[in-house]
Amino acid sequence: MTTPEAEVTPRRGLLTKSRLITAAVVGVIVVALVVITQMLAHQAQARMVAMFPDDVVKDAALTKMAISMAKPTFASHCASCHGADMKGDQKKGAPNLADNIWLFDFGHVSDIEMTVLYGVRSGLGKSRNITDMPGLGLSGQLYPYEVKDATKYVLYLSTGKTDDQEAIKRGAAIFQDKGVCYDCHSSDAQGNSDYGAPGFTDKDWLYGGDYDTIYHSIYYGRHGKCPAWVDKLSAAQIRAMAVYLYVNSHKPTPTQSASAHDTHIG
Ligand code: HEC
Ligand code: HEC
Repeated sequence: MTTPEAEVTPRRGLLTKSRLITAAVVGVIVVALVVITQMLAHQAQARMVAMFPDDVVKDAALTKMAISMAKPTFASHCASCHGADMKGDQKKGAPNLADNIWLFDFGHVSDIEMTVLYGVRSGLGKSRNITDMPGLGLSGQLYPYEVKDATKYVLYLSTGKTDDQEAIKRGAAIFQDKGVCYDCHSSDAQGNSDYGAPGFTDKDWLYGGDYDTIYHSIYYGRHGKCPAWVDKLSAAQIRAMAVYLYVNSHKPTPTQSASAHDTHIG
């Protein structure tokens, strides 16, 4: 016996109808979930921006969100100078952002955020712009042979090598007197993070630690610039970036515990 057509058609109609209803319900749920997720993300971002910058890293969920927000921004806006691995580029004078050595202030989230907001020598009034590295040879303040001696002293500070003791002694005297180096780099050559003046007692270089590069820095001066981001990125993007850079530069190493996050300048 065959089923009469009259019986089949209404059933098919019913089936299609219930499928349509299911699809509509699923659709509504999906849209609602998307809207709720976006609302929650928006709320979390607003909470992150409203709090004191340094406190964000005490909240694991906000920190996680900040890192995932900042990663693509770093790749599109910062990696061209600071490198995809954040290790910097000495040809551009762009510092390594992955280590815990900071030119400016102490590397707290709030310090990093100030730099990201207003930049370094960016032309904005609030940018990091107290001083530059003067061209001490170019201006005639030091003779070329004095620049040579100062270079040898800086090399000695960073490597400990004492192959030309007389030049190193003369360079040390220039550092503390005629070159006025101590005024910006501090008399113990540890640098000064109010000025963004690097220290010379470590292996961390903005432009390079070989003889020729150091000589060039002292003779011609340096005027590194980082753009300001206050007009180009949102407050949430900038806060997220500061958190990301903080976390990334405070990763514990085998010899360093997670809590040992005191900074030094160099
Ligand atoms: C007025 C302040 C000032 C004085 C004086 C000064 N410096 Fe600097 N120096 C700086 C700043 C700021 C920088 C970082 C420049 C930059 O960020 O582009 C710098 C950078 C350098 C660098 C590059 C370091 C690197 O990591 O590549 C060297 C080398 C250097 N100074 C050596 C000297 C020596 C030696 C003297 C004295 C003969 C001296 N400076 C005097 C402010 C100063
Ligand atoms: C055009 C190249 C360029 C781009 C793009 C750039 N930077 Fe920089 N940045 C620099 C240079 C050069 C310096 C060093 C300035 C100086 O001499 O002190 C610097 C310095 C910094 C510092 C200070 C580090 C310290 O040790 O205190 C931070 C933080 C920083 N940049 C973050 C960023 C972030 C975040 C972005 C992307 C949103 C970015 N930069 C994009 C060139 C760049």
